[in-house]
Amino acid sequence: AANPQWGGRFASGPAAIMGEINASIGFDKILWRQDIRGSLAHAAMLQKVGLLTETELAEIRQGLGDIAQEIGESRFEFSPALEDIHMNIEARLSERIGEAGKRLHTARSRNDQVATDFRLWVRDAIDGLQEQTAALMRSLATRALEHAATPMPGFTHLQVAQPVTFGHHLLAYVEMLSRDRGRLRDARARLNECPLGSAALAGTSFPIDRRMTAAALDFDRPTANSLDAVSDRDFALEFLSALSLQAMHLSRLAEEIVMWASAPFGFIALSDAFTTGSSIMPQKRNPDAAELVRAKIGRIMGDFVGLLTVMKGLPLAYAKDTQEDKEPVFDATEAMTLSLAAMDGMIRDLKANAPRMREVAGMGFSTATDLADWLVRELRVPFRTAHHVTGRLVGMAEQKGCDLADLSLGEMQSVEPQINAGVFDVLTVEASLASRTSEGGTAPANVKHQAQAWLAKLGES
Ligand code: ARG
Repeated sequence: AANPQWGGRFASGPAAIMGEINASIGFDKILWRQDIRGSLAHAAMLQKVGLLTETELAEIRQGLGDIAQEIGESRFEFSPALEDIHMNIEARLSERIGEAGKRLHTARSRNDQVATDFRLWVRDAIDGLQEQTAALMRSLATRALEHAATPMPGFTHLQVAQPVTFGHHLLAYVEMLSRDRGRLRDARARLNECPLGSAALAGTSFPIDRRMTAAALDFDRPTANSLDAVSDRDFALEFLSALSLQAMHLSRLAEEIVMWASAPFGFIALSDAFTTGSSIMPQKRNPDAAELVRAKIGRIMGDFVGLLTVMKGLPLAYAKDTQEDKEPVFDATEAMTLSLAAMDGMIRDLKANAPRMREVAGMGFSTATDLADWLVRELRVPFRTAHHVTGRLVGMAEQKGCDLADLSLGEMQSVEPQINAGVFDVLTVEASLASRTSEGGTAPANVKHQAQAWLAKLGES
């Protein structure tokens, strides 16, 4: 049989495969709350401008409320023949309340309806992810405060470079996540215009009040161009691009966690709650959660590129291609929600192995730069010369198989006669850390300050 929503023009119904490729109800039913919210705002506006009576509005409100309950309690029968969530709800409304239900679609099209619903959904998703991101930042800052003075090796090229503190390292990710939050905030501000009332593509002849519906749905204003409003999905793409960057950040932290938890590093131990065992090797504790967070960038960035590719080359205005906008967004949101929650759990639970990190922090002549700086500061040796002198001392220590601090004063003076015993004060990891007081540097006092500032900024919950 022909679709009852437009059966007038059709003699028979779609081929089975047409029904299957066309239906989106399987995935867009997740929009039901936004769809009902949008319809309630639309109906109230229709009544205000005289297109619905008060009684009809009351019936629509009652009917939509009942439908919300049916869906909420899983009593609603979704019909693939009705294609999507919009027509499923509208058809059910007419079934329940008759005439008034059939008036709801006045001055509206599914094109502005879905654009509105989807913006509402993305906006809600952004709000949820903002909170989760703030929670992770709070956990990182809390652990950073605890480890403001815990030495760890800082790396460049994954070679031991200079000592840093574990707290400083964790706060680096707080900075990244803070920019991720900024991008989500920007995306939200730009998407917050209401397409409702753009109708199919050209607007409508009815005397609608778009400012009223925009305000009722907490949008800042109605969209300005009806063609743009029903056809662009840049708001979803901006969201996905922000999530791609955030997933990239989480993936880097996840990779570090995987390395730190391995025996050759031995910097941290993950909790039982965030590790798995091996079916054959009884001793294993695998960082699966971290590995999965590391991998989620694959699907999130894939979702971004996938939708970008769908949108490219689409002529104005609406085209059914656009129906493919939803699954990437739902998928990426779920992946990010899981990633943030898992990362938060790992960070809260992990135990830092401070003695091991301290040991490695001193390896690889990590205070060589401190020695060079000392030559500049105390003996006014030009830095490039100091670099050369220090390089020779490192070579000497390497040949002897000892640390810089284990060279005798005599050995040092054989390379640079002016060196005095004061040099030994700067060769320890602790001295190196304490000296890094420049703004943004790793000195424990700095790190403590920064961690406290972040915690104050992020608030309690
Ligand atoms: N399910 C559709 C979508 O997600 C709704 C819009 C359909 N509009 C149309 N003209 N066929 O895009």
